[in-house]
Amino acid sequence: MSKECNFNIRKAAFADVHQIYELIKQHPAELLPRSISDIVKNTDRFVVTECKNKIVGTAAWEILPEIGHVVTPTIEIKSVAVDKKYQKSGIGTGLVKTVLKRIEEYRPVEILVLTFTPDFFRKFGFKEVSKKKIMHKIYMGCLNCTKYESPFTCPEVAMTLYFK
Ligand SMILES: CC(C)(COP(=O)(O)OP(=O)(O)OC[C@H]1O[C@@H](n2cnc3c(N)ncnc32)[C@H](O)[C@@H]1OP(=O)(O)O)[C@@H](O)C(=O)NCCC(=O)NCCS
Repeated sequence: MSKECNFNIRKAAFADVHQIYELIKQHPAELLPRSISDIVKNTDRFVVTECKNKIVGTAAWEILPEIGHVVTPTIEIKSVAVDKKYQKSGIGTGLVKTVLKRIEEYRPVEILVLTFTPDFFRKFGFKEVSKKKIMHKIYMGCLNCTKYESPFTCPEVAMTLYFK
C-alpha cells in the first residue's frame, strides 16, 4: 500500500475535519471519539498524513494546564490514528515525530500519552508512569467510560517524555 504514495504530512485544514472524524472513529477500542465541533475547534492542533488527496493518518495534541506547573503545562499527544489499510508503513512514526517537533516550539517540560500501544511510543523515548500522577486527567477522560470499572482496571498505559 505504501508504494502507491508519497506520504505528505502537513497541518490539518478545515476541509480535513470529516476525514479526521472518520479516522478516529475507525479505532473505538483504542481512541476516545472526537466530535466534529471538537475537531473543528482544535484544527490548529491536528496534523494529517495525506495519500492521493485522502487523509490516511492523523495526530493531535492538547495543552493540560491542570497537570504540571501552571506556566509549563504538560502537553498530551492524543488521537493518533492511522487508517487500518495503511498501518505499519511508518505513518504513525512520521505523525508522532511531526507533533513532537510542533510541540517543542512551546518548550514544554513534559509530554504525556495514554495508550494501549506502549511499545509504539517507547520508540520515541516515552516511559511508563503511574496513573496516580495524573489523577485529574484520568478523572476527566475516564468519567464516562463504560468499558472499565475504574481507570486502574483499564489496561491503557500512561507514559511521559521529558524535554530538556
Ligand atoms: C499505533 C498506530 C498509530 C501505529 O501506526 P503505524 O503507522 O502502524 O506505525 P508505524 O508503521 O510508524 O510503526 C512504527 C513501529 O511501531 C510498531 N508498531 C506499530 N503499531 C504497533 C502496535 N499497535 N503495537 C506495538 N507496536 C506497534 C511497528 O511495528 C514499528 O516498529 P519497527 O520500527 O520496529 O518496525 C496505529 O497502529 C493505530 O492507528 N492504532 C490505533 C489507534 C491507536 O492505538 N493510537 C495510539 C494511541 S494515541
